[in-house]
Amino acid sequence: MLAKNSTHRNCEVAVRTPARSPQDEALFLDAARPYWHPIARSADVGSGEVVGVRLLDEDLALWRSADGTLGLTDDLCAHRGTMLSAGGTVTDEGCIRCPYHAWEYDAEGQCLRIPQVANQALAEKVRIAAYRVVDYAGLVWTCLAQEGEERRGIPVVPEATNPDWWLYAGAPPTWQCQAPRMVENFLDIAHFGVLHSGNFGNPDIEIVDPYRPVTNMEDFSITFNFPYLTRDRWSPPIDGRPATRFVDYEYRAELPFACWIKGAGKDDIGYYTYIAVCPVSAQETKIFWVTSFPNSLVYTGPELDAGFIPFFEEDQRVVEWQRPEWLPLGLGAELQMTFDRIAVAYRTSLADLGFPVLHFPRTRLSQTAASKVKGPTSAAEEMS
Ligand code: FES
Ligand SMILES: [Fe+2]
Repeated sequence: MLAKNSTHRNCEVAVRTPARSPQDEALFLDAARPYWHPIARSADVGSGEVVGVRLLDEDLALWRSADGTLGLTDDLCAHRGTMLSAGGTVTDEGCIRCPYHAWEYDAEGQCLRIPQVANQALAEKVRIAAYRVVDYAGLVWTCLAQEGEERRGIPVVPEATNPDWWLYAGAPPTWQCQAPRMVENFLDIAHFGVLHSGNFGNPDIEIVDPYRPVTNMEDFSITFNFPYLTRDRWSPPIDGRPATRFVDYEYRAELPFACWIKGAGKDDIGYYTYIAVCPVSAQETKIFWVTSFPNSLVYTGPELDAGFIPFFEEDQRVVEWQRPEWLPLGLGAELQMTFDRIAVAYRTSLADLGFPVLHFPRTRLSQTAASKVKGPTSAAEEMS
């Protein structure tokens, strides 16, 4: 299979990846279905607006009525298959009206009006699929599974309901990658001084000090602390070199596709960076990110965008080209080093949750590297 959907349009090199079957894709989408996922920023769905979104390869119509209530249905009119978000409108009663023949559906998916017929009792027989949808922490969330079938609630955004804190939901980038690839990248602490050396990463720190993630499948979490001498972007250089600052980063992964980091901003005041990754499809991912700050810590939206978007872009360039395109959950597929403990914990947890493991054949390159450096088996032994 040749790599596709690349943002590197000038690259002439075709990358071969292991084949992935439609059955594998269905397994991944099914495994992700019983969780709440973000589908939009709350501010991007104003009163009276209809927005088309995609989650788990399904097109959905999202709208907000005048009283602020959200509705979410399949983006498909039962009459002639029209996409409701393509010109649909919101009625005074809070229904979504199809742009083609003006049939109206409420937030339960029930058709309430068919303008072309006198007998409105016919509308009672028409229904489209509707889903639960809520605003939380600046984002719009849904779970496509039936009520009672979800495996956990919405991953908590730290301090979201604390009046002494404020939130900022940044513009969400879309990456051409599988969602777990992005989440693992966000949790990876060994690339800071390499990939982000022009940002918060400190190129003088190469050795990764030991850290030990703790997995708790009861509450779907993996937690660890990572002390790091970060580059201090808020202080002027010292003797021509970037200023540095010690930060004890606190990590919490919220399985399967969310996590937050507690870091420190100006004056060493703690704040949270939270990401919740929307699996648009099996190979496309939309990254919602929310930062939460104590009221004493003031930033503007443009300041935060300027701080976060560049390092998202640095990561995107790497993650979209990782192969295999899907995160291999079988630990023998890639080299697992001691500093990869968080990746091992994350992959193992996803497998425990029922995500497809997909055993890929190891490449010639990785076999050679394994024999010269340290193979996955011996590295795993060292980690145990
Ligand atoms: S296609 Fe929607 S009302 Fe006819
Ligand atoms: Fe990164």
